Amino acid sequence: MSWKTLDDMDLNGKRVLVRVDINVPIVDGVVTDSTRIRRIAPSVRDILAAGGKPILLAHFGRPGGERRENLSLNQLIPTLERAFETRVLFAADCVGAGAQAAADALQPGEVLLLENTRFHAAETKNDPDLAEGMAKLGEIYCNDAFSAAHRAHSSTEAIARLLPACAGRLMQAELEALETALGAPNRPVTAVVGGAKVSSKLELLGNLIEKVDYLIIGGGMANTFLAAKGMNIGKSLAERIMKETALEIMAKADALNCKIILPKDIVVAEKFESHAPHLIVDADHCPDEGMILDAGPESIAEISRVLESSKTLIWNGPLGAFELEPFDAATNAAALKAAALTRSGQIVSVAGGGDTVAALNASGAAADFTYISTAGGAFLEWMEGKTLPGVAALS
Ligand code: 3PG
Ligand code: MG
Repeated sequence: MSWKTLDDMDLNGKRVLVRVDINVPIVDGVVTDSTRIRRIAPSVRDILAAGGKPILLAHFGRPGGERRENLSLNQLIPTLERAFETRVLFAADCVGAGAQAAADALQPGEVLLLENTRFHAAETKNDPDLAEGMAKLGEIYCNDAFSAAHRAHSSTEAIARLLPACAGRLMQAELEALETALGAPNRPVTAVVGGAKVSSKLELLGNLIEKVDYLIIGGGMANTFLAAKGMNIGKSLAERIMKETALEIMAKADALNCKIILPKDIVVAEKFESHAPHLIVDADHCPDEGMILDAGPESIAEISRVLESSKTLIWNGPLGAFELEPFDAATNAAALKAAALTRSGQIVSVAGGGDTVAALNASGAAADFTYISTAGGAFLEWMEGKTLPGVAALS
């Protein structure tokens, strides 16, 4: 690996800009899964221990270049302080005079958190001027955000060219663990892809089917495929305009001998609420007023059979509305099955993504997985064999 790590840098007395991914799930201002925050603690602690001053750069949600108070990073400060066991100061912008003053005043032992980089529209354009504004605040750049490394943004890509740059502990650990588990995977390889970020992951599926033997599709992603096959999906979350893409992916999978598994039966409700009245019907019997919130028992049985015949599992995205009981049933059942098969040495299992990790933690299955990545999209792009811009920029 051709990049530097924290061990190669002289950190003593230096302000170290650390790009982290603290894009954690949050409900009413409360962090519901702090995995991503806990996993960046080693870099922060090592920088502090070496006499450096960590200044955290991060995005939160997709504010689209506008300042949105509900996406302010300041709400994460208590969780960060608990994870780092130290004081975390805050600057209300990631560039400019206020941020500079806060960076200059930072004392040894303290951590400074800068406001959401995506409050600037320039961030997602990989704008070099914005990167320069950020770079001024520190003397060293450390990228510890593997899970955002598939984005070429000012804080992940352009900035790495402006300062002496290195990979953080989590970035290193993620790349090493993925290489060990999935560098030369045993076949059959099964991928489970679900969740709600449909269009941004569809293209990725087209590449993934070249690498895997089975592709289990769930969540909002599955609805898009069911609709593309001409089935009524009622009021379900889906991207109907992606019909052509979905059909092309299915045709390509056929040609490549990759078997796509879609739900055979579905759990439908009229309300997106915990314990909403629901029924189980065949996948082609969704009522007009219904929303597909989970895969049904026959689908779960089929998924279990596929997992039993697999040697390697990669998983990103829940199979249903896992945050609402009982619509977490398919996700939990598949997670527990994968955990049991991993425990007995039958499969190597790697899962990643913010919601996925939250769901696996909730089901109690996470600890038995071979490896849990903090990354979702980045992990799948790594699996496709793509160069991740945030990693490449460190070389
Ligand atoms: C994630 O949550 O997957 C990463 O933080 C990247 O977020 P993005 O998909 O909004 O770029
Ligand atoms: Mg994600």
